[in-house]
Amino acid sequence: MPLETPAAASPPTRLILYVGKGGVGKTTMAAATAVRAAALGHRTLVVSTDIAHSLGDVLQVELGAEPAEIGERLFAYEVNVLDEARRSWGKMQGQLADFLKREGVTEVQADELAIMPGMEEVAALVQIRRQSRTGQFDCIVVDAAPTGETIRLLSMPDSLLWYAGRLQEWRGRLMRFVGPLLRNALPDLNVIESMTQLAERTKELRQDLTNPERSSYRIVVTPDTMVIKEARRAETYLNLFDYPIDAVLTNRVLPATNAGNPYLDAMLARQQRAMAEVRSTFATLPLLEAPLSAEEPLGLSALAELSQQVFGDRDPTLVLHRGATQHIERQGDGYLLQIPMPNVEVTRLSLLKRGDELYVDVGNFRREITLPLTLAALEPGTARVHAGMLEIPFSAAPAAMPAAGARR
Ligand SMILES: Nc1ncnc2c1ncn2[C@@H]1O[C@H](COP(=O)(O)OP(=O)(O)OP(=O)(O)O)[C@@H](O)[C@H]1O
Ligand SMILES: [Mg+2]
Repeated sequence: MPLETPAAASPPTRLILYVGKGGVGKTTMAAATAVRAAALGHRTLVVSTDIAHSLGDVLQVELGAEPAEIGERLFAYEVNVLDEARRSWGKMQGQLADFLKREGVTEVQADELAIMPGMEEVAALVQIRRQSRTGQFDCIVVDAAPTGETIRLLSMPDSLLWYAGRLQEWRGRLMRFVGPLLRNALPDLNVIESMTQLAERTKELRQDLTNPERSSYRIVVTPDTMVIKEARRAETYLNLFDYPIDAVLTNRVLPATNAGNPYLDAMLARQQRAMAEVRSTFATLPLLEAPLSAEEPLGLSALAELSQQVFGDRDPTLVLHRGATQHIERQGDGYLLQIPMPNVEVTRLSLLKRGDELYVDVGNFRREITLPLTLAALEPGTARVHAGMLEIPFSAAPAAMPAAGARR
C-alpha cells in the first residue's frame, strides 16, 4: 500500500491498545472499536500483534501482513510477528549469539540465550509506530497478546537501554586496563551498536506509548475473580511504566433480569459481586460494559451492534480518562504509593498487606491493589489521605501492622 506524506497540520494518530487476560474478548473489542471509529468518520486501522492471530476470524475477513481496506475508512492486518522480529533484530541476535559462543557457551545454548523474551512483540509495535507516523490513519486500534506477555514487552525499552548503557560502560572501563590479548574477549562493538540502535527505536516507541494524548490502554475484564485479579496486576504494571490507561471494559455481562432459574440466579449473583469488585477496584476510571450476546459477535454488522452497546453515542477514539491511577515514588529509604481517591470521605482507613496484595478499606469502600515486587518486599507505614490522594509509605523497617490512620 502506498504511503502518503503526513499532512503538516494533521493531529497525531491515536493508538488504542486492548489488554487483558487470555480469552476475555480483546480481539472482539478491538475490532468493535475500529468498526465504530470508522463509522464515525475516522480513518481507522485495526491490527493484531498476537502471534496466535484471530482478528481475521472476528472480522470474518481474510487478512494479510499489510493493511487492506475491509470497509469504508476501515483497514486491517495481522503483523507477521516472527518475520518482523527477524527483520528488525535478526542481525543483532546473530551477533549476540556469536559473542556468547566465543565466551564458551555451547552453540545451541547461545542461540537460545540470544533470543530476548518479548522481542517479537516489540518488533510488531515498532512497525505499528511506523504506520502511525505515515499520517494515513486517524486511529490505530491494537489487538495485543494476553496481559502477561504485553507487560513484559512494555518494560523492554527501559531494560534494553539499561543493558546497552552498562555493556558500553563496562567495555570502556575494561579497555583501559586490559592488554591486547584480552581485548578480543570483550563484547563486540557491533553487539553494543545494534543493541543501542534497538534501544533507541524502542525508546521512541515508548515515548509514543506513554504519551496520553497519543496512546490509551483499555483493560478488558470479564466478571470473574481471577480475571479481575490479573487486571489489577495489569493496572499496577501499566502505571509503573507510565502507560496511560483510559478505561476498563467489562465484557460478557449477563442481562440483569431475574431468570427464576436457580442456576442462572446463582450466576447473576456471582456476576454482581464481581461487578462491584470491578467498580471499587477501578473507581477512578470510566467503566464500559458489553453484554454477553447469545451469538458470538463475528463480522462487521455484529461488531457494529456490539460497539453501539459499549460506546453508545461516545466516540471511542477520544481520550476517555487522563491521569495515572497509581503512582510510586522514592522517598528516603523507601517508597510512597499514591492512589487517587477523589470524593472519598475519610472516617476510617485500614490497610492489610498479604504477600503482594494490599487491601485498603476507606469507609465502606474497599480497594485491592497488586503491589509491584519492590513494594511487596517492604512494609506499609501509616497511610493518609491528602488532596484527594491516598498516600501509603513503604519501608524496610518492620513497622507495626497494619499501621493505619487518617489525616486530612
Ligand atoms: N460479548 C460477547 N458475547 C458473546 N461472545 C463473546 C463476547 N465477547 C467475546 N466473545 C467470544 O469469546 C471468544 C473470545 O473472544 P476474543 O477472541 O475476542 O478474546 P481474546 O481476549 O482476544 O482472546 P485471546 O487472549 O485468545 O486473544 C470468541 O469466541 C468471541 O466471539
Ligand atoms: Mg485475541
